[in-house]
Amino acid sequence: MATTPPPQTYRVKSFGCQMNVYDGERMAELLGAQGIRPAAEGEDADLVVLNTCHIREKAAEKVYSDIGRLRRDDGSSPLIAVAGCVAQAEGEEIMARAPAVKMVVGPQAYHRLPAMIEQATLGKRAVDTDMPAETKFGALPARRKVGPTAFLTVQEGCDKFCTYCVVPYTRGAEISRPFNDLVAEAHKLVEAGAREITLLGQNVNAWRDDSNRGLEKLIETLSEIPELARIRYTTSHPNDMTDGLIAAHGDLPKLMPFLHLPVQAGNDRVLKAMNRSHTADSYLRVLDRVRAVRPDIALSGDFIVGFPGETDAEFEDTLKLVDAVGYAQCFSFKYSPRPGTPAATMDGQIAPEVMDERLQRLQAALNRDQLAFNQRSVGQRCTVLVERKGKYPGQWLGKSPWLQSVHFTGEAEIGALVEVELVEAGPNSLAGRLLA
Ligand code: SAH
Ligand code: SF4
Ligand code: F3S
Repeated sequence: MATTPPPQTYRVKSFGCQMNVYDGERMAELLGAQGIRPAAEGEDADLVVLNTCHIREKAAEKVYSDIGRLRRDDGSSPLIAVAGCVAQAEGEEIMARAPAVKMVVGPQAYHRLPAMIEQATLGKRAVDTDMPAETKFGALPARRKVGPTAFLTVQEGCDKFCTYCVVPYTRGAEISRPFNDLVAEAHKLVEAGAREITLLGQNVNAWRDDSNRGLEKLIETLSEIPELARIRYTTSHPNDMTDGLIAAHGDLPKLMPFLHLPVQAGNDRVLKAMNRSHTADSYLRVLDRVRAVRPDIALSGDFIVGFPGETDAEFEDTLKLVDAVGYAQCFSFKYSPRPGTPAATMDGQIAPEVMDERLQRLQAALNRDQLAFNQRSVGQRCTVLVERKGKYPGQWLGKSPWLQSVHFTGEAEIGALVEVELVEAGPNSLAGRLLA
């Protein structure tokens, strides 16, 4: 078996959701703790981790083209590890199809990467897609991320089993991380420079601890960290929007006025076939309650068009729901059949051109609403958390409380919270004027 010298440099490429981004950061920290350093831009890394997403077909296919592209001119490859949800779903298949891949590691097993790398340098390929009962978090080094915004995974997995979705299979059953661990990690992130923390989970609002405290308790406790200015959370399920969490939007000033609450479709028959266990109306009533305590809340959602059996009239109900809500921003997708999910074998799979047409109409409506939301913000004064420098000299980029991108020029620095007046709106960003 061919041996490889231990890797000196690494690169982690994350695809998919923010939880994958979080996992990618933690893998990077883990590799750093092994004395491996991040490859500089343009530098050829000795070790490449592809942290993959399996949510739609295109996302999964990308992995194989990425693996191909890692081959060097002399025919050699770096040590390649495939992590994330494709690793979990197709571990053995990847090994068979891509000989360049030396390690396959699932989302619940990546704390074992160092041992796998050692084996890989000895020429041994390994797949680890266990979902161990003991949690990986305890085995990872402490956080040392710097930067004004940080992710913190509080909950993993999903028990909802929407009929189109792979997440319950790739991420396993819902688990909540312990309260004290999360508070400790939040403190570390703040010490490392975070001013905003986004709490993450596939069903983040299903988070509960052993004493049955819900997410609002965690948010309340994190609010007490003085240097932490902003808290967000994503992604939520409509059925887990409890009274306590809704009330928190009115009570806790550090909880930002933004809610990402996927609905997927506006027709109750389709929602039932999706196993969403909410109706269009029950969803709208949740939003009404949030708006009652936080009238300026920016709303966001996810949509799937062309679920098997969706008729033209049923799709129209999705457009009606969009009109009723007035979203600030949204994600929308064509239904993609995923192997092993119930919907993949349902009757009435929709033709691609029908899906294309529906997606276009939906996105036209969502873009219209997003621009309208941004235009309504013009004239408002708000705080912007500065995240990075802009393209032009003296220009800065950051986020408004409503998660809009805002650019402005003047005296500022990364991590600062500055007051601006929003003066001009585009579809994807706003111009701000720095206030004294
Ligand atoms: N837990 C979250 C999000 C999960 S995945 C929730 O329940 O809403 C993110 C989004 O991907 C989903 O909200 C859905 O809109 C989309 N998605 C999931 N499976 C899909 C599939 N098979 N085809 C197309 N879009 C899909
Ligand atoms: Fe997937 Fe549904 Fe779970 Fe969201 S709630 S992760 S869409 S199964
Ligand atoms: Fe993709 Fe897995 Fe996230 S499938 S969306 S990376 S949970």
